[in-house]
Amino acid sequence: MIALLTALLFASAIQDVTADDNNHCPSGWTFSSNTSLCYIQSPQYLTYAEADPFCQSIGGSQVFVFTLRELTWLTDFTKSSFAQPWLATTRNTTTGSWYNSDKTSPSTSFWTTGEPSLNGDCATFKGMGASGIQATPCYSIQPALCRQMPALCPTQTNYGGLSTRSGTITSPGYPVQYYNNLNCLYTITSPVNTYITLLFSPYMLEDFFDYIDVYDGPNSSYPYLGTTDDWWYIRDDFESSSNVVSFIFHTDSIITDKGWLLTWNSKSNTPPISQSGQNGSFTSPNYPNNYDPNTEQLYYITAPTGFQVNVTITDFVTELNYDVLEVYNSSYVSSYNLVANLSGLAVAPWSWVSPSKYVTMRFRSDYMIQKKGFNIVWFIQ
Ligand SMILES: *[C@@H]1O[C@H](CO)[C@@H](O)[C@H](O)[C@H]1NC(C)=O
Ligand SMILES: *[C@@H]1O[C@H](CO)[C@@H](O)[C@H](O)[C@H]1NC(C)=O
Ligand SMILES: *[C@@H]1O[C@H](CO)[C@@H](O)[C@H](O)[C@H]1NC(C)=O
Ligand SMILES: *[C@@H]1O[C@H](CO)[C@@H](O)[C@H](O)[C@H]1NC(C)=O
Ligand SMILES: *[C@@H]1O[C@H](CO)[C@@H](O)[C@H](O)[C@H]1NC(C)=O
Ligand SMILES: *[C@@H]1O[C@H](CO)[C@@H](O)[C@H](O)[C@H]1NC(C)=O
Ligand SMILES: *[C@@H]1O[C@H](CO)[C@@H](O)[C@H](O)[C@H]1NC(C)=O
Repeated sequence: MIALLTALLFASAIQDVTADDNNHCPSGWTFSSNTSLCYIQSPQYLTYAEADPFCQSIGGSQVFVFTLRELTWLTDFTKSSFAQPWLATTRNTTTGSWYNSDKTSPSTSFWTTGEPSLNGDCATFKGMGASGIQATPCYSIQPALCRQMPALCPTQTNYGGLSTRSGTITSPGYPVQYYNNLNCLYTITSPVNTYITLLFSPYMLEDFFDYIDVYDGPNSSYPYLGTTDDWWYIRDDFESSSNVVSFIFHTDSIITDKGWLLTWNSKSNTPPISQSGQNGSFTSPNYPNNYDPNTEQLYYITAPTGFQVNVTITDFVTELNYDVLEVYNSSYVSSYNLVANLSGLAVAPWSWVSPSKYVTMRFRSDYMIQKKGFNIVWFIQ
Protein backbone atom coordinates (compact mmCIF):
# COMPACT_ATOMS: atom_id res chain seq x y z
CA MET A 1 0.00 0.00 0.00
CA ILE A 2 2.79 2.43 0.94
CA ALA A 3 4.67 1.46 -2.20
CA LEU A 4 1.57 2.13 -4.28
CA LEU A 5 0.95 5.55 -2.75
CA THR A 6 4.58 6.47 -3.19
CA ALA A 7 4.37 5.46 -6.83
CA LEU A 8 1.25 7.56 -7.30
CA LEU A 9 2.75 10.65 -5.69
CA PHE A 10 5.92 10.21 -7.67
CA ALA A 11 4.06 9.81 -10.94
CA SER A 12 1.80 12.81 -10.38
CA ALA A 13 4.83 14.92 -9.50
CA ILE A 14 6.49 14.09 -12.82
CA GLN A 15 3.37 14.61 -14.90
CA ASP A 16 3.41 18.40 -15.07
CA VAL A 17 7.08 18.63 -15.90
CA THR A 18 7.26 16.51 -19.03
CA ALA A 19 4.04 17.57 -20.75
CA ASP A 20 4.54 19.47 -23.99
CA ASP A 21 1.21 19.91 -25.68
CA ASN A 22 2.35 22.28 -28.43
CA ASN A 23 2.72 19.71 -31.15
CA HIS A 24 1.40 16.50 -29.58
CA CYS A 25 4.96 15.14 -29.12
CA PRO A 26 7.04 14.86 -25.93
CA SER A 27 9.61 17.63 -25.55
CA GLY A 28 12.64 17.13 -27.76
CA TRP A 29 10.65 15.24 -30.41
CA THR A 30 9.51 16.82 -33.68
CA PHE A 31 6.02 16.37 -35.07
CA SER A 32 5.72 15.73 -38.81
CA SER A 33 2.41 16.86 -40.23
CA ASN A 34 3.40 14.88 -43.34
CA THR A 35 3.43 11.50 -41.59
CA SER A 36 1.53 12.43 -38.38
CA LEU A 37 4.29 10.88 -36.28
CA CYS A 38 6.88 12.20 -33.80
CA TYR A 39 10.62 11.86 -34.61
CA ILE A 40 13.91 12.29 -32.77
CA GLN A 41 17.54 11.70 -33.73
CA SER A 42 19.83 10.77 -30.83
CA PRO A 43 22.66 13.18 -30.05
CA GLN A 44 24.92 10.26 -29.17
CA TYR A 45 26.44 7.78 -31.64
CA LEU A 46 25.56 4.10 -31.22
CA THR A 47 26.24 0.75 -32.85
CA TYR A 48 23.42 -0.78 -34.89
CA ALA A 49 22.64 -3.21 -32.06
CA GLU A 50 22.26 -0.34 -29.58
CA ALA A 51 19.98 1.81 -31.73
CA ASP A 52 16.64 0.00 -31.29
CA PRO A 53 16.99 -0.48 -27.51
CA PHE A 54 17.76 3.24 -27.29
CA CYS A 55 14.57 4.15 -29.18
CA GLN A 56 12.51 1.85 -26.99
CA SER A 57 14.02 3.32 -23.83
CA ILE A 58 12.61 6.74 -24.76
CA GLY A 59 9.15 5.44 -25.67
CA GLY A 60 9.54 5.01 -29.43
CA SER A 61 10.72 2.53 -31.99
CA GLN A 62 13.42 2.66 -34.63
CA VAL A 63 12.50 4.23 -37.98
CA PHE A 64 12.46 2.37 -41.27
CA VAL A 65 11.20 4.10 -44.41
CA PHE A 66 7.66 3.00 -45.19
CA THR A 67 6.34 5.60 -47.65
CA LEU A 68 7.72 8.07 -50.17
CA ARG A 69 6.08 10.79 -48.08
CA GLU A 70 8.11 9.71 -45.05
CA LEU A 71 11.29 9.52 -47.15
CA THR A 72 10.74 13.16 -48.18
CA TRP A 73 10.12 14.14 -44.58
CA LEU A 74 13.20 12.25 -43.32
CA THR A 75 15.32 13.98 -45.95
CA ASP A 76 14.14 17.31 -44.63
CA PHE A 77 14.59 16.22 -41.00
CA THR A 78 18.15 14.86 -41.36
CA LYS A 79 19.68 16.95 -44.14
CA SER A 80 21.45 19.38 -41.81
CA SER A 81 23.32 16.58 -40.04
CA PHE A 82 26.43 14.99 -41.54
CA ALA A 83 25.92 11.78 -39.61
CA GLN A 84 23.60 9.26 -41.28
CA PRO A 85 21.25 7.73 -38.68
CA TRP A 86 20.52 3.99 -38.46
CA LEU A 87 17.34 2.56 -39.95
CA ALA A 88 15.64 -0.65 -38.72
CA THR A 89 16.60 -2.31 -42.01
CA THR A 90 19.13 -5.16 -42.39
CA ARG A 91 20.29 -7.65 -44.95
CA ASN A 92 19.56 -11.34 -44.39
CA THR A 93 23.06 -12.67 -45.08
CA THR A 94 21.69 -16.12 -46.02
CA THR A 95 19.35 -14.89 -48.75
CA GLY A 96 20.98 -11.56 -49.52
CA SER A 97 17.60 -9.78 -49.28
CA TRP A 98 16.88 -6.66 -47.21
CA TYR A 99 14.17 -6.54 -44.57
CA ASN A 100 12.66 -3.91 -42.28
CA SER A 101 12.10 -4.82 -38.63
CA ASP A 102 8.44 -5.58 -39.40
CA LYS A 103 9.57 -8.18 -42.01
CA THR A 104 8.46 -6.04 -44.97
CA SER A 105 11.04 -5.23 -47.67
CA PRO A 106 12.10 -1.66 -48.38
CA SER A 107 10.81 -0.40 -51.72
CA THR A 108 13.57 -0.48 -54.37
CA SER A 109 12.94 3.21 -55.09
CA PHE A 110 13.80 4.19 -51.48
CA TRP A 111 17.53 3.40 -51.93
CA THR A 112 19.97 6.17 -52.75
CA THR A 113 21.94 6.06 -56.04
CA GLY A 114 23.96 2.85 -56.51
CA GLU A 115 22.39 1.10 -53.50
CA PRO A 116 21.97 -1.44 -52.05
CA SER A 117 25.70 -2.07 -52.37
CA LEU A 118 27.73 -4.83 -50.74
CA ASN A 119 29.23 -2.23 -48.41
CA GLY A 120 27.46 -3.56 -45.29
CA ASP A 121 24.52 -5.53 -43.93
CA CYS A 122 22.83 -2.73 -41.98
CA ALA A 123 21.16 0.41 -43.33
CA THR A 124 21.46 4.13 -42.65
CA PHE A 125 19.52 7.06 -44.02
CA LYS A 126 21.35 9.49 -46.32
CA GLY A 127 19.70 12.91 -46.09
CA MET A 128 22.13 14.96 -48.16
CA GLY A 129 22.32 14.93 -51.95
CA ALA A 130 20.43 12.01 -53.49
CA SER A 131 18.55 10.97 -50.36
CA GLY A 132 17.60 7.41 -49.49
CA ILE A 133 18.67 4.17 -47.83
CA GLN A 134 22.34 3.18 -47.88
CA ALA A 135 24.05 -0.10 -46.95
CA THR A 136 26.44 0.49 -44.02
CA PRO A 137 28.66 -1.87 -41.99
CA CYS A 138 26.81 -2.90 -38.82
CA TYR A 139 29.86 -2.14 -36.64
CA SER A 140 29.75 1.51 -37.69
CA ILE A 141 28.83 4.10 -35.04
CA GLN A 142 25.86 6.32 -36.02
CA PRO A 143 22.97 8.20 -34.35
CA ALA A 144 19.66 6.42 -33.69
CA LEU A 145 16.50 7.64 -35.46
CA CYS A 146 13.27 6.99 -33.52
CA ARG A 147 9.58 7.62 -34.05
CA GLN A 148 6.39 7.29 -31.97
CA MET A 149 2.66 7.95 -32.11
CA PRO A 150 1.64 11.55 -31.42
CA ALA A 151 -1.01 12.65 -28.94
CA LEU A 152 -3.73 12.74 -31.56
CA CYS A 153 -7.19 11.25 -31.30
CA PRO A 154 -8.54 9.45 -34.35
CA THR A 155 -10.41 11.72 -36.74
CA GLN A 156 -13.33 9.27 -36.64
CA THR A 157 -15.38 9.69 -33.48
CA ASN A 158 -18.69 8.08 -34.50
CA TYR A 159 -18.89 4.32 -34.95
CA GLY A 160 -21.63 1.84 -35.78
CA GLY A 161 -24.87 3.27 -37.17
CA LEU A 162 -28.59 2.57 -37.23
CA SER A 163 -28.06 -0.55 -39.35
CA THR A 164 -24.87 -1.86 -37.71
CA ARG A 165 -25.17 -4.51 -35.01
CA SER A 166 -21.54 -5.08 -34.05
CA GLY A 167 -18.00 -3.90 -34.62
CA THR A 168 -14.48 -3.50 -33.29
CA ILE A 169 -12.51 -0.36 -32.44
CA THR A 170 -8.85 -0.10 -31.42
CA SER A 171 -6.90 2.56 -29.56
CA PRO A 172 -4.67 4.85 -31.67
CA GLY A 173 -1.54 2.93 -32.71
CA TYR A 174 -2.81 -0.46 -31.45
CA PRO A 175 -1.19 -2.99 -31.09
CA VAL A 176 2.12 -1.11 -31.03
CA GLN A 177 1.66 1.86 -28.74
CA TYR A 178 -0.80 4.62 -27.87
CA TYR A 179 0.36 8.06 -26.91
CA ASN A 180 0.33 10.32 -23.85
CA ASN A 181 -2.01 13.27 -23.14
CA LEU A 182 -5.09 11.82 -24.87
CA ASN A 183 -8.74 12.57 -24.15
CA CYS A 184 -10.42 10.84 -27.07
CA LEU A 185 -14.22 10.55 -27.30
CA TYR A 186 -15.74 7.58 -29.14
CA THR A 187 -19.50 7.30 -29.75
CA ILE A 188 -21.20 4.09 -30.87
CA THR A 189 -24.72 3.89 -32.27
CA SER A 190 -26.66 0.67 -32.94
CA PRO A 191 -30.18 0.00 -34.32
CA VAL A 192 -33.19 1.43 -32.49
CA ASN A 193 -34.74 -1.06 -30.03
CA THR A 194 -31.29 -2.39 -29.13
CA TYR A 195 -28.75 -1.81 -26.38
CA ILE A 196 -24.97 -2.16 -26.64
CA THR A 197 -22.47 -4.40 -24.88
CA LEU A 198 -18.78 -3.42 -24.76
CA LEU A 199 -15.79 -5.67 -24.12
CA PHE A 200 -12.28 -4.19 -23.96
CA SER A 201 -10.02 -7.18 -24.60
CA PRO A 202 -7.04 -7.21 -24.91
CA TYR A 203 -6.67 -4.27 -22.53
CA MET A 204 -3.06 -3.18 -21.98
CA LEU A 205 -2.82 0.29 -20.38
CA GLU A 206 -0.65 2.01 -17.82
CA ASP A 207 -2.31 1.14 -14.49
CA PHE A 208 -4.33 3.88 -12.75
CA PHE A 209 -3.31 6.82 -14.97
CA ASP A 210 -4.53 5.66 -18.37
CA TYR A 211 -8.15 4.51 -18.39
CA ILE A 212 -11.54 4.61 -20.11
CA ASP A 213 -14.73 6.24 -18.78
CA VAL A 214 -18.02 4.98 -20.23
CA TYR A 215 -21.27 6.98 -20.56
CA ASP A 216 -24.86 5.90 -21.22
CA GLY A 217 -25.42 8.22 -24.21
CA PRO A 218 -23.58 10.19 -26.90
CA ASN A 219 -21.13 12.02 -24.60
CA SER A 220 -19.98 12.63 -21.04
CA SER A 221 -23.02 14.70 -20.12
CA TYR A 222 -25.03 11.45 -20.03
CA PRO A 223 -25.13 9.06 -17.02
CA TYR A 224 -21.78 7.59 -16.03
CA LEU A 225 -21.59 3.82 -16.52
CA GLY A 226 -18.21 3.39 -14.87
CA THR A 227 -14.53 3.15 -15.60
CA THR A 228 -12.14 0.42 -16.67
CA ASP A 229 -9.89 1.52 -13.84
CA ASP A 230 -11.67 0.49 -10.66
CA TRP A 231 -8.42 0.66 -8.63
CA TRP A 232 -8.43 -2.89 -7.38
CA TYR A 233 -9.32 -4.63 -10.63
CA ILE A 234 -9.69 -3.94 -14.33
CA ARG A 235 -13.31 -3.83 -15.44
CA ASP A 236 -13.48 -4.69 -19.14
CA ASP A 237 -17.22 -5.02 -19.89
CA PHE A 238 -20.06 -2.48 -19.95
CA GLU A 239 -23.68 -2.39 -21.09
CA SER A 240 -25.72 0.61 -22.21
CA SER A 241 -29.45 1.06 -21.62
CA SER A 242 -30.12 2.34 -25.14
CA ASN A 243 -28.68 2.28 -28.65
CA VAL A 244 -26.08 5.01 -28.04
CA VAL A 245 -23.03 4.66 -25.82
CA SER A 246 -19.81 6.68 -25.60
CA PHE A 247 -16.49 6.49 -23.86
CA ILE A 248 -13.46 8.68 -23.32
CA PHE A 249 -9.94 7.23 -23.49
CA HIS A 250 -7.77 9.24 -21.07
CA THR A 251 -3.99 8.99 -20.92
CA ASP A 252 -1.59 10.97 -18.76
CA SER A 253 1.69 12.56 -19.78
CA ILE A 254 4.04 9.66 -19.10
CA ILE A 255 4.24 5.90 -19.81
CA THR A 256 2.17 4.22 -22.48
CA ASP A 257 1.43 0.60 -23.45
CA LYS A 258 0.01 -1.34 -26.38
CA GLY A 259 -3.61 -0.18 -25.95
CA TRP A 260 -6.99 -1.87 -26.28
CA LEU A 261 -9.26 -3.67 -28.69
CA LEU A 262 -12.98 -3.08 -28.17
CA THR A 263 -15.57 -5.53 -29.45
CA TRP A 264 -19.13 -4.20 -29.28
CA ASN A 265 -22.43 -5.90 -29.97
CA SER A 266 -26.01 -4.76 -29.98
CA LYS A 267 -28.72 -6.81 -28.28
CA SER A 268 -32.47 -6.62 -28.76
CA ASN A 269 -34.43 -4.66 -26.19
CA THR A 270 -37.54 -6.81 -26.72
CA PRO A 271 -37.58 -9.89 -24.47
CA PRO A 272 -37.81 -13.35 -26.07
CA ILE A 273 -41.25 -14.95 -26.43
CA SER A 274 -41.31 -18.46 -24.92
CA GLN A 275 -44.12 -20.99 -25.31
CA SER A 276 -44.56 -24.56 -24.09
CA GLY A 277 -47.43 -27.05 -23.82
CA GLN A 278 -49.24 -28.76 -26.64
CA ASN A 279 -49.80 -25.97 -29.15
CA GLY A 280 -49.46 -22.27 -29.71
CA SER A 281 -48.98 -19.52 -32.24
CA PHE A 282 -46.59 -16.64 -32.91
CA THR A 283 -46.65 -13.58 -35.07
CA SER A 284 -44.03 -11.07 -36.09
CA PRO A 285 -44.08 -7.84 -34.02
CA ASN A 286 -47.14 -5.64 -34.83
CA TYR A 287 -48.65 -8.32 -37.14
CA PRO A 288 -50.74 -7.87 -39.29
CA ASN A 289 -49.34 -4.33 -39.33
CA ASN A 290 -45.76 -3.81 -40.48
CA TYR A 291 -42.91 -4.80 -38.20
CA ASP A 292 -40.42 -2.06 -37.17
CA PRO A 293 -37.03 -1.41 -38.74
CA ASN A 294 -34.07 -3.10 -37.02
CA THR A 295 -36.27 -5.42 -35.02
CA GLU A 296 -34.85 -8.50 -33.42
CA GLN A 297 -37.27 -10.99 -31.84
CA LEU A 298 -36.50 -14.43 -30.44
CA TYR A 299 -39.12 -17.22 -30.12
CA TYR A 300 -38.65 -20.39 -28.07
CA ILE A 301 -40.83 -23.50 -28.16
CA THR A 302 -40.40 -26.30 -25.64
CA ALA A 303 -42.61 -29.37 -26.12
CA PRO A 304 -43.11 -32.10 -23.50
CA THR A 305 -40.38 -34.75 -23.49
CA GLY A 306 -40.89 -37.42 -26.13
CA PHE A 307 -42.83 -35.20 -28.51
CA GLN A 308 -41.87 -33.44 -31.70
CA VAL A 309 -43.07 -30.03 -32.84
CA ASN A 310 -44.95 -29.42 -36.10
CA VAL A 311 -44.29 -25.79 -37.11
CA THR A 312 -46.48 -24.38 -39.88
CA ILE A 313 -46.20 -20.91 -41.37
CA THR A 314 -49.59 -19.84 -42.71
CA ASP A 315 -48.71 -16.32 -43.82
CA PHE A 316 -45.28 -14.82 -44.60
CA VAL A 317 -44.33 -11.48 -46.21
CA THR A 318 -40.88 -9.95 -45.59
CA GLU A 319 -38.18 -8.10 -47.52
CA LEU A 320 -36.25 -10.76 -49.44
CA ASN A 321 -32.78 -11.48 -47.99
CA TYR A 322 -32.86 -8.57 -45.52
CA ASP A 323 -35.72 -9.31 -43.12
CA VAL A 324 -35.22 -12.95 -42.25
CA LEU A 325 -36.73 -15.58 -39.98
CA GLU A 326 -34.15 -18.17 -38.91
CA VAL A 327 -35.42 -21.54 -37.69
CA TYR A 328 -33.26 -23.74 -35.42
CA ASN A 329 -33.84 -27.34 -34.29
CA SER A 330 -32.39 -26.57 -30.82
CA SER A 331 -33.13 -24.63 -27.64
CA TYR A 332 -30.71 -21.84 -28.62
CA VAL A 333 -29.41 -19.93 -31.64
CA SER A 334 -26.47 -21.72 -33.21
CA SER A 335 -25.35 -21.86 -36.82
CA TYR A 336 -24.92 -25.65 -36.43
CA ASN A 337 -28.63 -26.01 -35.82
CA LEU A 338 -29.96 -23.73 -38.53
CA VAL A 339 -32.76 -25.53 -40.36
CA ALA A 340 -34.11 -22.69 -42.51
CA ASN A 341 -33.43 -19.04 -43.22
CA LEU A 342 -36.68 -17.64 -44.56
CA SER A 343 -37.46 -14.35 -46.28
CA GLY A 344 -39.43 -12.89 -49.19
CA LEU A 345 -42.92 -13.47 -50.51
CA ALA A 346 -42.77 -17.14 -51.54
CA VAL A 347 -42.30 -18.87 -48.17
CA ALA A 348 -45.85 -19.71 -47.01
CA PRO A 349 -47.25 -22.27 -46.75
CA TRP A 350 -44.24 -23.79 -45.03
CA SER A 351 -44.20 -26.72 -42.65
CA TRP A 352 -41.55 -28.62 -40.76
CA VAL A 353 -41.38 -31.05 -37.86
CA SER A 354 -38.58 -30.53 -35.36
CA PRO A 355 -36.73 -33.79 -34.60
CA SER A 356 -36.53 -32.82 -30.93
CA LYS A 357 -38.81 -31.12 -28.43
CA TYR A 358 -37.09 -27.76 -29.03
CA VAL A 359 -37.57 -25.08 -31.65
CA THR A 360 -35.87 -21.68 -31.64
CA MET A 361 -36.67 -18.94 -34.14
CA ARG A 362 -35.12 -15.53 -34.60
CA PHE A 363 -36.60 -12.73 -36.66
CA ARG A 364 -34.42 -9.80 -37.71
CA SER A 365 -35.32 -6.84 -39.89
CA ASP A 366 -32.95 -4.26 -41.33
CA TYR A 367 -33.40 -0.50 -41.46
CA MET A 368 -35.11 -0.33 -44.87
CA ILE A 369 -38.50 -1.55 -46.17
CA GLN A 370 -40.88 -2.99 -43.57
CA LYS A 371 -43.66 -5.46 -44.36
CA LYS A 372 -46.51 -7.34 -42.69
CA GLY A 373 -44.43 -10.21 -41.37
CA PHE A 374 -45.68 -13.66 -40.51
CA ASN A 375 -48.08 -15.91 -38.63
CA ILE A 376 -46.95 -19.28 -37.28
CA VAL A 377 -48.90 -22.08 -35.61
CA TRP A 378 -47.34 -25.06 -33.87
CA PHE A 379 -48.51 -28.22 -32.13
CA ILE A 380 -46.95 -31.34 -30.73
CA GLN A 381 -47.12 -34.69 -32.49
C1 LIG B 1 4.82 18.00 -46.36
O1 LIG B 1 3.55 18.10 -46.98
C2 LIG B 1 3.30 19.39 -47.56
C3 LIG B 1 1.87 19.39 -48.04
O2 LIG B 1 1.50 18.15 -48.58
C4 LIG B 1 4.30 19.63 -48.68
O3 LIG B 1 4.08 20.91 -49.25
C5 LIG B 1 5.70 19.58 -48.11
O4 LIG B 1 6.65 19.68 -49.14
C6 LIG B 1 5.92 18.28 -47.37
N1 LIG B 1 7.19 18.36 -46.70
C7 LIG B 1 7.97 17.33 -46.56
C8 LIG B 1 9.25 17.60 -45.87
O5 LIG B 1 7.69 16.22 -46.97
C1 LIG C 1 17.24 -15.45 -43.46
O1 LIG C 1 16.45 -16.14 -44.42
C2 LIG C 1 16.40 -17.53 -44.16
C3 LIG C 1 15.70 -18.20 -45.34
O2 LIG C 1 14.46 -17.55 -45.60
C4 LIG C 1 15.68 -17.76 -42.85
O3 LIG C 1 15.57 -19.13 -42.57
C5 LIG C 1 16.45 -17.04 -41.75
O4 LIG C 1 15.72 -17.17 -40.52
C6 LIG C 1 16.64 -15.58 -42.08
N1 LIG C 1 17.53 -15.01 -41.07
C7 LIG C 1 17.20 -13.95 -40.32
C8 LIG C 1 18.21 -13.47 -39.38
O5 LIG C 1 16.08 -13.44 -40.44
C1 LIG D 1 -23.80 15.93 -25.63
O1 LIG D 1 -24.70 15.53 -26.64
C2 LIG D 1 -25.90 16.31 -26.66
C3 LIG D 1 -26.84 15.67 -27.66
O2 LIG D 1 -26.16 15.27 -28.83
C4 LIG D 1 -25.54 17.76 -26.99
O3 LIG D 1 -26.71 18.53 -27.00
C5 LIG D 1 -24.58 18.27 -25.94
O4 LIG D 1 -24.17 19.58 -26.30
C6 LIG D 1 -23.37 17.37 -25.83
N1 LIG D 1 -22.57 17.78 -24.70
C7 LIG D 1 -21.26 17.85 -24.79
C8 LIG D 1 -20.55 18.22 -23.53
O5 LIG D 1 -20.66 17.62 -25.81
C1 LIG E 1 -54.03 -26.67 -27.61
O1 LIG E 1 -53.57 -26.98 -26.29
C2 LIG E 1 -54.62 -26.87 -25.31
C3 LIG E 1 -53.98 -27.16 -23.98
O2 LIG E 1 -52.77 -26.48 -23.83
C4 LIG E 1 -55.73 -27.81 -25.61
O3 LIG E 1 -56.78 -27.59 -24.68
C5 LIG E 1 -56.27 -27.57 -27.01
O4 LIG E 1 -57.22 -28.53 -27.34
C6 LIG E 1 -55.11 -27.64 -28.01
N1 LIG E 1 -55.64 -27.30 -29.33
C7 LIG E 1 -55.37 -28.02 -30.41
C8 LIG E 1 -55.99 -27.55 -31.68
O5 LIG E 1 -54.71 -29.03 -30.34
C1 LIG F 1 -29.95 -15.66 -43.27
O1 LIG F 1 -29.90 -15.04 -44.54
C2 LIG F 1 -29.53 -13.66 -44.50
C3 LIG F 1 -29.64 -13.10 -45.90
O2 LIG F 1 -29.02 -13.92 -46.83
C4 LIG F 1 -28.14 -13.54 -43.92
O3 LIG F 1 -27.79 -12.18 -43.80
C5 LIG F 1 -28.10 -14.19 -42.55
O4 LIG F 1 -26.79 -14.15 -42.03
C6 LIG F 1 -28.58 -15.61 -42.62
N1 LIG F 1 -28.63 -16.18 -41.29
C7 LIG F 1 -27.85 -17.19 -40.91
C8 LIG F 1 -27.98 -17.61 -39.50
O5 LIG F 1 -27.07 -17.74 -41.67
C1 LIG G 1 -30.45 -29.89 -36.79
O1 LIG G 1 -30.14 -29.14 -37.95
C2 LIG G 1 -28.82 -29.27 -38.42
C3 LIG G 1 -28.61 -28.30 -39.54
O2 LIG G 1 -29.63 -28.45 -40.53
C4 LIG G 1 -28.55 -30.72 -38.80
O3 LIG G 1 -27.20 -30.86 -39.23
C5 LIG G 1 -28.79 -31.60 -37.61
O4 LIG G 1 -28.67 -32.96 -37.97
C6 LIG G 1 -30.21 -31.37 -37.05
N1 LIG G 1 -30.38 -32.08 -35.80
C7 LIG G 1 -31.27 -33.08 -35.67
C8 LIG G 1 -31.33 -33.72 -34.33
O5 LIG G 1 -32.00 -33.39 -36.62
C1 LIG H 1 -47.83 -30.40 -39.86
O1 LIG H 1 -49.21 -30.54 -39.62
C2 LIG H 1 -50.05 -30.14 -40.71
C3 LIG H 1 -51.49 -30.21 -40.25
O2 LIG H 1 -51.76 -31.49 -39.72
C4 LIG H 1 -49.78 -31.04 -41.89
O3 LIG H 1 -50.56 -30.63 -43.01
C5 LIG H 1 -48.31 -30.95 -42.26
O4 LIG H 1 -47.98 -31.86 -43.31
C6 LIG H 1 -47.44 -31.24 -41.06
N1 LIG H 1 -46.08 -30.98 -41.41
C7 LIG H 1 -45.15 -31.92 -41.56
C8 LIG H 1 -43.81 -31.45 -42.03
O5 LIG H 1 -45.36 -33.08 -41.32
